[in-house]
Amino acid sequence: MSLKLLGLCGSLRQDSFNRKLMSEAGRIWGNEDFSTASLDLPLYNGDAERADGIPQSVQTLARQIAEAHAVVIATPEYNQSISGVLKNGLDWISRVEGAPWRGKPVAIMSAAAGRAGGARAQYALRLCLNPFRPHLLPGPEVMVAAASQEFDDDGNLTGALYVKLLGELMDDLKAAART
Ligand SMILES: Cc1cc2nc3c(=O)[nH]c(=O)nc-3n(C[C@H](O)[C@H](O)[C@H](O)COP(=O)(O)O)c2cc1C
Repeated sequence: MSLKLLGLCGSLRQDSFNRKLMSEAGRIWGNEDFSTASLDLPLYNGDAERADGIPQSVQTLARQIAEAHAVVIATPEYNQSISGVLKNGLDWISRVEGAPWRGKPVAIMSAAAGRAGGARAQYALRLCLNPFRPHLLPGPEVMVAAASQEFDDDGNLTGALYVKLLGELMDDLKAAART
């Protein structure tokens, strides 16, 4: 059976290094079984939710998560935490019935300008995911530091250690998705 991987990127930037990292994860998994979902959602507003219900874009996103066998999240680090885009997405998804994250194998990774490679954002993301009780892999930690120097013109991750760690992480994610 083919195992479907869904990719989420916490940056909306077209040339985002996290988008490149997410794509590399998808390539390693197998592009034919990899798709991405958009976190370009309206800002959560309880009044709007009460008046109009949950937006179609959020319902689609929640369904994509529910239907995937595994999810990979690439998070930027903004001021030592995750982006508002990513937190907003997580908050919206929590409003949809059906607990799409529950038990879902999830791998997180980050690419950042700083030397820590988004380490603090990854810890923050773990805390943000906790309420949803996914099967969040403990590692290996893929934290791409000085990200502008770590991808070639085609978006390939170039550092041997990062490539090795990402491969191990995706192997573990696939094993978790099989169980
Ligand atoms: C609002 C903001 C805050 C940032 N804070 C951090 C930070 O705390 N640590 C860090 O390493 N880089 C920080 N950066 C730089 C990002 O790591 C860099 O812009 C990165 O390329 C963003 O991810 P993206 O390429 O996926 O969009 C920040 C960038 C922005 C725009």
